[in-house]
Amino acid sequence: MIEKIANLKNEISSFTINNNEDLENFRLEFLSRNGKIQDMFKLMGSVPKEDKASVGKAMNEVKNLAQNKYDEAKANLHKKKKKSFGASDDISLPMPPRYTGSLHPLTKALNEIKQIFLRLGFNIADGPELEDDFHNFTALNFPPDHPARDMQDTFFVRRSDEHPDKNQVLRTHTSPVQIRLMKHKELPIRSIMPGRVYRNEAVTAKSYFQFNQVEGLYVDENVTLGELIETLVMFAKLMYGSDVKYRVRPSFFPFTEPSMEMDIWWENEQGGQWLEILGAGMVDPNVFNAVNVDAEKYTGFAFGMGVDRIALLRYGIDDIRTLYENDIRVLQQFK
Ligand code: DAH
Repeated sequence: MIEKIANLKNEISSFTINNNEDLENFRLEFLSRNGKIQDMFKLMGSVPKEDKASVGKAMNEVKNLAQNKYDEAKANLHKKKKKSFGASDDISLPMPPRYTGSLHPLTKALNEIKQIFLRLGFNIADGPELEDDFHNFTALNFPPDHPARDMQDTFFVRRSDEHPDKNQVLRTHTSPVQIRLMKHKELPIRSIMPGRVYRNEAVTAKSYFQFNQVEGLYVDENVTLGELIETLVMFAKLMYGSDVKYRVRPSFFPFTEPSMEMDIWWENEQGGQWLEILGAGMVDPNVFNAVNVDAEKYTGFAFGMGVDRIALLRYGIDDIRTLYENDIRVLQQFK
């Protein structure tokens, strides 16, 4: 009996397991219900009583040896499979989906605008979103009682009726950056100033309390209205295609004189309509005076446009709120 057990032990030890097939053969040969270990236990009945304890112990040792060898081999095969390609790996299977990022439609529209003005010789500047009364209004020639200073349009961060000059606001437009450039930079200036602006307006599909503008400013000796119009037409053609239909009409802004607005003709399935894309004009001498630029020597033009409108038209979005909700299902459509 003891010899039988020793032979079985040798058999188990010398069995090599290299793959799943070997593993299964090992299990069938030793560990299954009809395997050699169960057969061995069946012989227990013929063992003399006084030997039962020692033989039983030896049998259990063999059983544990087989079971441990099996478990270990199984774990090793599993590890190997994870690490390497085998003949059974199908490399033509599709990858699991990978979600990559994409640029936000506002960023895309803004990038296009920037590219166009960089080509036209403008550089890019920016300024703070929290502004004071001087930069947002006074220096831009807004009279003290101008309705745009009223609560309904402007988010006041700090407001004092006795000292309105100490008011702090979320900028209502990017025009205050013009003031900062003229105060701190050497002339000539030829810059665009993109940025976020804020207005205290009801949130609807068409209006939002924040949006994005791109301001433009060109100040030098002998800058003319003709150059302004030429620049705007060039922009419209590069942005909307060389066959774009546009018009320029007179308008009013406190900080420009004369002032104008530019419209482009936008067609869709329902027909067409004129859409205002920007305001512009020649810098008002009062603005030059506020920043100590010699209005006798220098002239300049300025313009300001909304980026959101461009993004909405370009991507056929009909609710401005879509641009700010950052719904991943919406954003994934702009790859
Ligand atoms: N700041 C104006 C607005 O928010 C837009 C504007 C109009 C900017 C004319 C300009 C300009 O620079 O010349 O409505």
